[in-house]
Amino acid sequence: MTRVAYVNGRYVPYRVASVHIDDRGYTFADGVYEVVAIVDGRFVDEAPHLDRLERSLKELRMTLPMSRRSIEFVLREVVRRNRVRNGIVYLQMSRAVAPRDHPFPADPKTQFVAWARSGKPVPVSHAEDGVKAITLPDIRWGRCDIKSTALLPNILAKQKAREAGAYEAWLVDENGNVTEGSSSNAWIITPKGELVTRSTDEAILSGITRLTVRELAREEGLRLVERSFSLAEAKGAREAFVTSASSPVVPVTQIDDQVIGNGKPGSTTLKLRERYLRYMNEESTV
Ligand code: PDD
Repeated sequence: MTRVAYVNGRYVPYRVASVHIDDRGYTFADGVYEVVAIVDGRFVDEAPHLDRLERSLKELRMTLPMSRRSIEFVLREVVRRNRVRNGIVYLQMSRAVAPRDHPFPADPKTQFVAWARSGKPVPVSHAEDGVKAITLPDIRWGRCDIKSTALLPNILAKQKAREAGAYEAWLVDENGNVTEGSSSNAWIITPKGELVTRSTDEAILSGITRLTVRELAREEGLRLVERSFSLAEAKGAREAFVTSASSPVVPVTQIDDQVIGNGKPGSTTLKLRERYLRYMNEESTV
């Protein structure tokens, strides 16, 4: 089967799908993106993902290239044409194609590309055995709440994690607090049994998975506190995990050289993971 991508109004073979060299997404990383999980052909939390997309665009003074209904249609078409039952759909919007110049071009036309691919979000072994996180200084800009394609600090952090045999890099701000992972939100469970994740501000991305897990945790009767936590507190935590559209509650069993808990995924993390996977299966939209 030939893979197909959507590029500015056309469905084209994936291997030749391309944008212009003057696309500002390419020259300036002047763009935003979203990743939505697909489970059994359904979209997980599509509406909040598209709400966040609209917010990111607004914050960057970009405009939607088409109506929201049309975007939903394009995403479904990309998923359908690629016969993706389980996987992800990626969409990216950049400000314009225009000769390279820092100010916005006059009358910018938002560029829109999308693709979908099959695959399980995270290898099951990661959930069963837990993963390692390393920690690095958070050197990102002051608007990490915007889901921008400008991800250099994130990819450098992730690469360091990979080279250290770790799954994720947790980023630490100048006060010694964990902000989030390079591509996920960070959570801990304290020795007293509190579930803690940083509250959202401009220092982190308000993860959609985070929002859903927050609701599910409340339903499960867990004591949830949204506050900053230090790296020292994280290392002394009973359990830890990360969340993202492609890492649905992945247990973290080691932070740097510190083993978390008994080195195995904790019971609360596994309960939340199980609850979230059920949610993914049952509550996604067609
Ligand atoms: N990343 N924080 C950062 C920095 C992220 O890049 C992501 C998602 C998240 C979690 O957001 P959500 O739960 O909405 O996926 C938090 C995506 C998956 C990526 O870049 O591939």
